[in-house]
Amino acid sequence: MEKTLAFIKPEAVCNNNSGKIIDSIENAGFQVAALKMVRLSVEQAQKFYEIHKEKAFFDDLVNNISCGSIIAMVLAKENAVDDFRKLMGAANPAAAEEGTLRKLYGESIEKNGIHGADSLENANTEIGFFFNKLEIIE
Ligand code: CMP
Repeated sequence: MEKTLAFIKPEAVCNNNSGKIIDSIENAGFQVAALKMVRLSVEQAQKFYEIHKEKAFFDDLVNNISCGSIIAMVLAKENAVDDFRKLMGAANPAAAEEGTLRKLYGESIEKNGIHGADSLENANTEIGFFFNKLEIIE
């Protein structure tokens, strides 16, 4: 079974949308193989989003993600990485398909409600950022 890394962003946690998001994820056939609520420091957020460090939006992205608690999850399913990206929808909620998580719970491209890894390689790196092996259901 393939695994991906997702987290519910601070704006969706603050708006009490976490339960609805997790419900949609389970209904779409993903197993929640690990879950934790954490608050990243600015330094940890900079490390997580290191691949975007040259982008103009990097500082805003880091500030948004470290301004409150997030709910990080390992999600297991066949084809988990691509299927989860479809469930999330486009990065900009305004452009996301109807019914996708970002359309439903995102506020803007900066506060788009949920993150999902964009490749299997990044999924493995991101899973290792948040979880150790003992915390993940096989
Ligand atoms: P996420 O899936 O967490 O991965 C990187 C994040 O950067 C993305 O969601 C958006 O929240 C944010 N992002 C991507 N493109 C832009 C952009 N053009 N302007 C502002 N934020 C962006």
